[in-house]
Amino acid sequence: MKTGMLKQKEYIDFLSSVPAFKELPDETLSNLADVLETDHYPDGEYIIRQGAKGNTFYIIAKGTVRVTKRDSATGESVFLRNMGRGDWFGEKALSDEDVRTANIIVEDPEGVDCLVLTRESYKQLIGDLIILERKYSDDTTPKRSEEFCGLALRD
Ligand code: CMP
Repeated sequence: MKTGMLKQKEYIDFLSSVPAFKELPDETLSNLADVLETDHYPDGEYIIRQGAKGNTFYIIAKGTVRVTKRDSATGESVFLRNMGRGDWFGEKALSDEDVRTANIIVEDPEGVDCLVLTRESYKQLIGDLIILERKYSDDTTPKRSEEFCGLALRD
């Protein structure tokens, strides 16, 4: 019980420190904290593989990942950007796409810690409450993370 409460407080403190999530109502943060799980991925691991089916949404708590995408013309992997603490990924396969649209690869000697949400919790807590305003053009120009990380509450 005590450990559970400590974990919950840690999650709420973390989410409240992330610009994209801190505007959410306390109740939503607390509901998120109830259902989030933490996972650790070692350097070089593919957290997500393009083309695979996916049922999970991730928020980076610690470390850096690399986003790449297969170029349909050449078949080669193209670097899109790096993402770090407070960035999220995996929303596409849970909304408009069935399969993963890019690769997410750990690029950190210490590995990456992610908070992970299932499709059900995502739909219930984030999909219904928030519009993920991130739009991807398939450009290869790295953008600053604050330019593509925007969450807005629905009216
Ligand atoms: P999903 O398709 O579920 O899994 C791969 C994830 O990579 C995707 O959700 C997005 O979260 C992320 N992603 C896809 N395309 C880009 C891009 N161009 N830039 C940054 N992230 C991307």
